[in-house]
Amino acid sequence: MFLSVRRVKKWQFAQLSAICFIMSLMFFWEPIDNHIVSHMKSYSYRYLINSYDFVNDTLSLKRRTHEAARYPYLINHEEKCQAQDVLLLLFVKTAPENYHRRSAIRKTWGNERYARFQLNANIKTLFALGTFSDPWKRDALQRKLAWEDQMYSDIIQQDFVDSFYNLTLKLLLQFSWANSFCPHAKFLMTADDDIFVHMPNLIEYLQSLAQMGVQDFWIGRVHRGSPPIRNKGSKYYVSYEMYQWPAYPDYTAGAAYVISNDVATKVYEASQTLNSSLYIDDVFMGLCANKMGILPQTHVFFSGEGQAPYHPCIYEKMMTSHGHVQDLQDLWKAATDPKVKEVSRGFFGQIYCRIIKILLLCRLSYVDTYPCRAAFV
Ligand SMILES: *[C@@H]1O[C@H](CO)[C@@H](O)[C@H](O)[C@H]1NC(C)=O
Ligand SMILES: *[C@@H]1O[C@H](CO)[C@@H](O)[C@H](O)[C@H]1NC(C)=O
Ligand SMILES: *[C@@H]1O[C@H](CO)[C@@H](O)[C@H](O)[C@H]1NC(C)=O
Repeated sequence: MFLSVRRVKKWQFAQLSAICFIMSLMFFWEPIDNHIVSHMKSYSYRYLINSYDFVNDTLSLKRRTHEAARYPYLINHEEKCQAQDVLLLLFVKTAPENYHRRSAIRKTWGNERYARFQLNANIKTLFALGTFSDPWKRDALQRKLAWEDQMYSDIIQQDFVDSFYNLTLKLLLQFSWANSFCPHAKFLMTADDDIFVHMPNLIEYLQSLAQMGVQDFWIGRVHRGSPPIRNKGSKYYVSYEMYQWPAYPDYTAGAAYVISNDVATKVYEASQTLNSSLYIDDVFMGLCANKMGILPQTHVFFSGEGQAPYHPCIYEKMMTSHGHVQDLQDLWKAATDPKVKEVSRGFFGQIYCRIIKILLLCRLSYVDTYPCRAAFV
C-alpha cells in the first residue's frame, strides 16, 4: 500500500514536470518559432498531453450550421448510389480544368465496370469539384463540364470557387453527399486526382474487412503530431486565430484515405458542429474525427507525398501512390497485370521480393515513399 502510493506520487510528479516543461516551451519559446522548435513542441504535446478537448470547445459553433447547404448543387446525381450492396463510394477531388486526369482515372482505377466484372465489387466513383476560379472563363468551362457529365454521369459540383483555400468546402461536399445519398456504402474513400490506386489490392482488402464487419475504421498515411505552419510565406500557413495549439490531432494525408460508413456518419455529424474556417481539409477531417473519438491507423502501402518504386514486388502489395499524371495508364497496365503475382510465388519468389523491397525501401538517404517496414509485411 505504502509503496504503491509512493509510486503514484512519483509518476504524478514526472507527469507534472513534463507538463510544466511543455508549457514553458510553449510560452517562452513562442518568439523563436522555427522549424525545429515547432516540431519539438508538437511532438512533446502529441506524446505527453495528447488531449484535444479544448480544441473541441473552442472550435465548436454556437449552433449547428449546414455549411454545405449554403452552396447549391450545380451538377448532382442523387440516384447514383441506389444499388444496395455498394462496397466503396469513391470521391475523387478534382478541379474543373482537369479533364485529362478524370479521363485517365475513368479508364483505370476509377472504372466501375472493371471493379464489377474483374473484381466482383460494386464501387461508385464521383468527381467532386467547385466552379472554375477565373470568372471570365467560367461559363465556357461550365458548358464543357455539363457535356462531360452527360457522357459519364459521375460529377458532383457545388457553387463555390474551386481553389486550394476552399478545400474544406469540398470535404463538406463529399461528407454531406455521402450522408444524404449513400449512407449504406460500406466504405468511403477520398482521393486526389493525381494519385494511383491499386484497385484490385484495395478491393480485396476491403472485401475481407467487410466480411469481418469492421467498424471505427480509418486508414491511410498517418501524420502524427504535425505542427501548424506559422511561416506566412507557406501555402499551409495557419494563423493562431484559426488554430492556437502546437500540434494537430493525428490525421491521414488527404491524398488518399479510406473510412468505414460509421466513421463517415460521425465525421459528418462533427463537421456540422465545428468551425470549418480551417482550410487544410485533411486536418479539418482529423479534428472532426478526434471530436468523435476516432483514431487513424497507418497502412504502410498508402504513400504520402511520394511515388512508389516501379517493380512487380511492389505492385503486388501497393495500395496508393502519389504523383501520377503522365504515367497513370502505363502504371495501371503494369501493376494490375495478373503476371505480377507470379513474381513472388514459391519460397524463392518470396525471398527475391523481400530482398528487392529492402533494397528499394530501406535506404539510408530519405526516400519519400513507403516506409522501410513495408518491406517486412
Ligand atoms: C471560396 O468559395 C466562395 C464561394 O464561391 C468564394 O466566395 C471564396 O472567394 C472562395 N475562397 C477562396 C479562397 O477562393
Ligand atoms: C470561425 O473561426 C474564424 C477564425 O479562424 C472566425 O473569424 C469566424 O468568425 C469563426 N466562425 C464562426 C461561425 O464562429
Ligand atoms: C465537444 O463539445 C461539445 C459541446 O461543446 C460537447 O457536448 C462534447 O461532449 C465535446 N466532446 C468531447 C469529445 O469532448
